[in-house]
Amino acid sequence: MENVRRGQEGGVRSQKSADIRLSVDILAFEYSDTTVALTDIHLAIGRGEFIGVLGSNGSGKTTLLKVMDGLVRDYRGLVQLDGKDIKKLSPKEIYAKIGLVFQSPDEQLFAPTVFEDVSFGPLNMGFGKDEVARRVNSALNAVDMDSSARKSIHNLSFGQKKRICIAGLLAMGHEILLLDEPTAGLDPMGEYKMMDLLTRLNREQGVTIVMATHSVDLVPLFLDRLYILSKGRIVRSGSPADVFTAPKEMAQMKLRLPQIAELIYRLKNEDGVPFTKIPLTVGEARREILKTMKDTHA
Ligand SMILES: Nc1ncnc2c1ncn2[C@@H]1O[C@H](COP(=O)(O)OP(=O)(O)O)[C@@H](O)[C@H]1O
Ligand SMILES: [Mg+2]
Repeated sequence: MENVRRGQEGGVRSQKSADIRLSVDILAFEYSDTTVALTDIHLAIGRGEFIGVLGSNGSGKTTLLKVMDGLVRDYRGLVQLDGKDIKKLSPKEIYAKIGLVFQSPDEQLFAPTVFEDVSFGPLNMGFGKDEVARRVNSALNAVDMDSSARKSIHNLSFGQKKRICIAGLLAMGHEILLLDEPTAGLDPMGEYKMMDLLTRLNREQGVTIVMATHSVDLVPLFLDRLYILSKGRIVRSGSPADVFTAPKEMAQMKLRLPQIAELIYRLKNEDGVPFTKIPLTVGEARREILKTMKDTHA
């Protein structure tokens, strides 16, 4: 399989086993109606990583996140959280470390106000009033929603609701966050803001993040490593440069290249413009175009 950016930087960061927080080795999982949702899934998430699970609708992303969160358990295989079989851990032990943000905030939010919703987790964990308030304020601050503590959930925009869902989990102090399509349904600025927020949580607070997405244009800008899921199987893994392949192969996985990459690919392969690599972002494309122009006029 030809990689469109063969020879580019990238590659999977080497992982020492002590650094692995979550490992998934699943032979098969099927839902009760016999739909086989996952087959031969083998992956490991290291401490402090920001990992993407990229796939089209129905490829198995949500099921995989539910497996990692211990919600789906009747698979054949072994899923380990910090080296322990997740099936043998109590929900309390799992949720002390991992939080799952559902795709739809309405599935997650239930309290009347922002403050009440975000304080629910820490209250249940048994913290006193002052500690709860400290945690809620710090979580709201982290998602840029500190001025909305008294607002009714009902009056928030979709993007604000998504950020409150994340705050709710941060207030509980989760070290690992699983996010199901966190940018779906957001406007273009909202998508960037969400990815910027997640990047900051990962870099500044060391939160390990796994996000499911089908957004091929955002992935190369923000993620260092990803798995492509197709029909319940991992078909490629590595850096964006490793996993983005020729348009035809992307189409077989019901995905496409980032638009800027598609343009350069066509100019190179259909019009003979001598690009030496296929860039995945606008910034890389700009450099590649300027370089090719210089070389052609030299
Ligand atoms: N509760 C369920 N019962 C039966 N089949 C399901 C259920 N949930 C999901 N599926 C099926 O499992 C497959 C994977 O679904 P899902 O994990 O939701 O994919 P994605 O999140 O990538 O869209 C699909 O074929 C879907 O129809
Ligand atoms: Mg889904």
